[in-house]
Amino acid sequence: TYFPELRKLLADWYHAHKRDLPWRQTTDPYRIWISEVILQQTRVEQGRDYYHRFIERFPDAQSLAEATEDEVLKMWEGLGYYSRARNLHRAAQMVVSDFGGCIPRSQKEILQLPGIGDYTAAAILSFAFDLPYAAVDGNVFRVVSRLLHIDSPIDTPQGKKIFAAWADALLDRENPATHNQAMMEFGALHCTPTSPACLLCPLRRFCLADVAGCVHTLPVKKGG
Ligand code: ADE
Repeated sequence: TYFPELRKLLADWYHAHKRDLPWRQTTDPYRIWISEVILQQTRVEQGRDYYHRFIERFPDAQSLAEATEDEVLKMWEGLGYYSRARNLHRAAQMVVSDFGGCIPRSQKEILQLPGIGDYTAAAILSFAFDLPYAAVDGNVFRVVSRLLHIDSPIDTPQGKKIFAAWADALLDRENPATHNQAMMEFGALHCTPTSPACLLCPLRRFCLADVAGCVHTLPVKKGG
């Protein structure tokens, strides 16, 4: 198929346009985990400050595990969704008690940690260990739905499975970390929800939604 060519064009775009973000400067699975949990609910600009403060106060799983819940919640103040901070704290305690203080590198084990689902697991395993898991966040749902013209809903279990399978087929198995960052960044900066830059798009000749004239209708949500 044309997927190898598509991956190469995406990688070239990413190298030319990527933002310099603090969690892209590290392969420490702890830092990547913290950044991904913060970014689940927060924009990059605001998330940056919280990330720096959180890492400074809790530089590793051990220090997070030893903190009191109140201390953790205090660092989270203003971010909302406090169950995420509680899960983070409990998960750090599990990392220390069950995994010797190291974030596990297997999908099965990492998914046992509270608050870590398919997306966060794939993000940590790919960004930290360069393992071949496709990380499918909102940006990636949109990019995949448009490139491959998939109109299955992104908010049903069945639809999610279809997207996971296509994201996996698209994954660059030689460079999973870079590929995943590139997909997310492309969705965040270029293939945006309401003003995708199709006229300047380096992937346009491969975009099935563009051929069909339905870029703006994708992705589809069942729940509206
Ligand atoms: N949003 C979620 N994860 C991200 C990442 N690693 N880089 C930029 N934005 C993100």
